Formats: sequence, C-alpha cells, structure tokens
Amino acid sequence: MSSAEETTENLLPKPREVVGRGAPVLPRVATKISWVGDADARVEAYAARILGGLQCGSVAIQIDDSDVVNAPQFDMDEHYELRVASEQVLLKANTTWGALHGITTLRQLTSTSGLPNGLHINDSPRFSWRGCMLDVTRHFIPLAQLYQVVDGLQLLKLNVLHLHLSDDQGFRFGSRIWPKLVSDEHYTMEQLAELVAYAADRGIRLIPELDVPGHVTHWLLAYPQWGSEKAYPSQRFGVHPGCLDPTREEVYAALASLFAEIAEVFPDQYVHVGGDEVNPKWWQRSEAVQAFIVEHGLEDERGLQNYFLHCVQQILASLDKQIIGWDEVLHEQMPECVVQNWRGATTRDRALAVARSCIVSAPYYLDLHFPADIHYQFDPQAPQQSWLAMENALAEDRRLRHIAPALSWTHQWRAGAIELDHEPAAKVLGGEACLWAELVDGPTLPMRLWGRLPAIAERLWSSADCRDSVDFYRRLSTLLEFPELSWDAHQSQCLQDLGLSALQIEVVRWLEPTKWYSRLLGTQAMQARLQGSEMPQARPYQVHTPLNRVVDYLAPESLSARNLVREANLQELTEKCDRALAQSWSGIDEDVVTALTATWDALQLTQDATAGRRAKDQVISVLEERYQPHGEYIPALIPHLINWLTEAQ
Ligand code: ACM
Repeated sequence: MSSAEETTENLLPKPREVVGRGAPVLPRVATKISWVGDADARVEAYAARILGGLQCGSVAIQIDDSDVVNAPQFDMDEHYELRVASEQVLLKANTTWGALHGITTLRQLTSTSGLPNGLHINDSPRFSWRGCMLDVTRHFIPLAQLYQVVDGLQLLKLNVLHLHLSDDQGFRFGSRIWPKLVSDEHYTMEQLAELVAYAADRGIRLIPELDVPGHVTHWLLAYPQWGSEKAYPSQRFGVHPGCLDPTREEVYAALASLFAEIAEVFPDQYVHVGGDEVNPKWWQRSEAVQAFIVEHGLEDERGLQNYFLHCVQQILASLDKQIIGWDEVLHEQMPECVVQNWRGATTRDRALAVARSCIVSAPYYLDLHFPADIHYQFDPQAPQQSWLAMENALAEDRRLRHIAPALSWTHQWRAGAIELDHEPAAKVLGGEACLWAELVDGPTLPMRLWGRLPAIAERLWSSADCRDSVDFYRRLSTLLEFPELSWDAHQSQCLQDLGLSALQIEVVRWLEPTKWYSRLLGTQAMQARLQGSEMPQARPYQVHTPLNRVVDYLAPESLSARNLVREANLQELTEKCDRALAQSWSGIDEDVVTALTATWDALQLTQDATAGRRAKDQVISVLEERYQPHGEYIPALIPHLINWLTEAQ
C-alpha cells in the first residue's frame, strides 16, 4: 500500500469520496479552532471536547446554515468536506450535523494515521436512517449508560437511538399521568428530555417506542380493564397472550394521553408504536371482540390489529407525529406508517409494494450473537432473491452450523413474499441494528454492542461496494481502541470478579456464547421450536436470572481468536491454554473447562498437521467435528484454526 492510500486507511465508516489523498503527514501543533463565518455552539463544544487534546494544528470551520436550537431530523443534510493544507485544516459543511461528522473524521485521522498535506475528503451518508434499537425493558439499562451509548453512536456516525421503552416485563417511560404503569426502574420524563438534548447536540435523534397492542402484560397488571382477559405477572421471556382490547374507547383515551407525554419529551417527527408478535388468542376468545370484528367488517384479528393501528395513527397524527411499526403491521389497508423490517428478507418488499417506507433490521439483530462479517454482508437494498440466498447460505457458515436447523425456523416468515415488479413509490430509509435485552444488562452491554455495531454503521453510511470484510476487521481493531467503544478493561474486571486469573481471562476470551436464540431458549424450548411449537416451555432464563457467568461477559465474536490465529504461534497458544487449564476453576461453569479443553486439543492437532505428523485434511475433518457447543459455550478458536490450515494448503 502506498503512503497516499494509507492516509485514510483507518477510517470507519469509510468516507464516500477521497478526492485527494495527500502526503506527507506533517507534524502539527495543538488544535486551534477558528471560524469562517459564525461559530456554532454545538460544533464548538464537540470540537473542544474531541480535538482539544489532539495535534490537529489550525482548524477552520465553516458552516453555511448552522442550527443550535432544533433537534436533528430525518433526512437532515449530513454532508461535510475536509481539506488539509500545510498551514490549516478546513472543515466545511452546510449544517451543524455535517460538521459534527467532519470532526469525528478529523479525530479518527489524527489519532490513527495522521493528517497528510493535501488530503481532501468529500463525505455524506448513503442512508439517512442509521440507527440502533436498544431494548431497555427486558433489563433496565442505567441512564448513565445511555449517555455512553450516544457517545459511541456518534463515533460510528450513527444518527438514531431507538429506545424500546415498554414490554411484557416492564414500562420504563416515567409517565406522570399513568404512574401505576411505571416500573420501579425507569427514566423520568425530565431525564429523558435531558438525554434527548444531549443526543441532539451530537446529531442523534431519539426515537421512543411504546409497544402496542401486544407485549403489554405489564400494562394489564396495572389496568386490567384495558384487556379482554386477566393477565398474570410474568417473569418469563417470549410471546405472551396479553394484548390491549381494541374495542374499548378508554384504551384509546389512555394511549392519547400517553403519547402526548411522549411527544412532550421526544421532539422527533417519528414515534414507534410496536405492533409485533400480537397473540390473537384473547381476541379470538372474546365474544365482544368477535362481534366488533363483524360489526366493523374487519374480517379477522389481523384486520382488527389494522383497525387499532389506524386509531393509533390518528392519535399520533393529531400530535404531528408519523408512526413506525414492526413489520407485522403490514396490511393491504394499513395507514400511513413506516415499516420496520425484522422477519427476514421478504417484509421489506412487502412494505415497499404497499408504498410504505422501510427501515431494514432483519439482518442486523445483534442479540443473535453472530459475528460482525455476517451482518456486514447484508445490504439493505440487496434484491430480495440475493438476500434470500444469503439467508440460506448462513446454514453453511461453519460458525453457525451448530444452530443450522434452527435457522430454517424463520422460513415461515417468507409466506406472502412478493416480487416487486415496478419501481416502488416508497423507499428504504436505512436500517437499525437491534439489541434485544433478554440476555443483556448494564454490565454486559458494552461486550454485546460495540464489537459488531461498527459493521452495520459502515453498511449504512458507506457505499454499497465497500464490502471487504478483512479490511473491515483491520479497521475495527483500530476503532476499538477509542474509549467510547473499548470494553477490554471492563470485561477483564467482570471476569476477574468471578475469580479468574489474568491468564484464565486471556484464554476464556477465545470462547464465544452459542449463536441464535439457543441460550435464551435452552435445550427443551429449542427442540420445541424446531418441531414448530412455541409455548409453554421451560426456559433457562427469566427476568431475574443473574447475568453474571463467564458466558455473559464474553463478546459474541471473539476478536482475539480471529487475530491470534493470524499471528499463529501455536506452540505458545497451546502452552497458555495448558497452563490456564491447570489453574483452579472453582465456581466457574464446567462447560468453560470442557470448551477450553477442546480448544487445547484442537491446537495440538493443528500443530500435528503443521509439523507433518498428521495429514491436514484429516485434521481439518476432526476439527470440524470438534467444533461443537459445550453448554452455552463454543470454542471460537477452532474455525480460525480450520481456515488457517485450509489457507496453508
Ligand atoms: C421483534 O423482534 N419482536 C420485533
């Protein structure tokens, strides 16, 4: 690589256009900001905080149309241009939002590659909607951490934090009008308003979600009159039968007052109203509900949910808001509503076919514990056929083979697929990564989020042909050095608190949690799901199950396993594993030890192959067999050993 190419090599997400690469990198003095035209308080504060301690030299900022009052909005102009000359760096943007991104780029360049004389970047995002959905309900995520999440999103040039504020197990929005709804652990309206302002200063929109009419068990415990049957407290996860009764006027009155409070706190034009996984059982069993369906010519429970959605849409329209719903809201007569795709490839095009804009999330579910490159390969605008082919190919990915039969469970979602045969009247607005929090809480959040979110951030910002996953991982390692995203010290502390030594911590980082919903469902429910049934099944995790075992603190993708084998000193790795295994593992899951023993064994076999003591092909097939889950752990080094042996052939 020439030095000219090196100048932008560490940027993540990659910029749209590097007009001039520049060279050489000149030494610069401490950053000094000046303004061409008026100063912008938001940009000034960010530049002081982020560039203050760096050696960017003289930085002139020019913003044509700065906005220090309003919150960021969908489709805001995020373009910026950066020109580096020997005497000065010039950052130009039309808006506050573009200038904020330019400063992030300047920070990444200065911290990792330096600022080459003559560098000229012209950058803007591919998609306007680049988000992360965080479920703060299944487990409460402390407020202070939401601030940290906003900081991390800004570094990744993401611009939406979607908070899933209510579900069967809780209600995190501190409503003043409906205090009985509010969980003990919640955010007050004032706290949320402050978070909104903090995020707005960073160019990030906050999208609130109250999930209705399903996922409301918690609501019905406080207000049983809003449902058609009695709900019972539930500590379990999964789809619940409780849902709001769409025939009752008082339900809409309550929703109107709740959404008015939401509108008071969240200035964004969009509000998410859920709509996913509505279990029709209660509606089917209620004579009054069935009579209502007939009386209103609604056909069935699907029609009833669509009726409900129309009512909710009108409530929000009266508050000047547009609604978003999960893709179960799709209906031929649905109201104006953005559809958030989550059930596989086909619902995106079903939304576009009925002229509804779409936010793509199906390939970006971080709670599946997939590695980053899997999310990275899915383009939000990929033709449906190639998206389906990619979904099918997941079962062939060695790293997912232990859950391959379960992957086809989702093929039921392909029912009703359509081929778009015309240019749709609506479009893909962008995408959102989703982190559902059944197995995530405050301490485990950093490990779950930051290793893989950058892949989705780049997919949503950079051009569609930016697809080199090897280069992505190289840049990821650099990016993860930034304190907003780095989880190393925190993870070490968590594992040390379990009694592990430094050496033991090093080797357990070669393990990963098993993939898909296998941990959440457990063996029994996983089997039931494969046979097509859902409930009720015993599951290993409930709301109060502590998330404090080794598996909880592991990153879903072991970057150390990936990097180690590239540098492969197999002898050293084997010895490390050996010494770590010889230490005490008292109080630690036995499965950790068996997974590490399998790792040790695989390292020995790989050495046998490289030393010519055993045939490589034979070793590879033994390693394929050994790559099995040990309880909730999978020995993540093994696929990298297989790749390494394969490439060495
Ligand atoms: C969802 O994952 N239930 C939207």
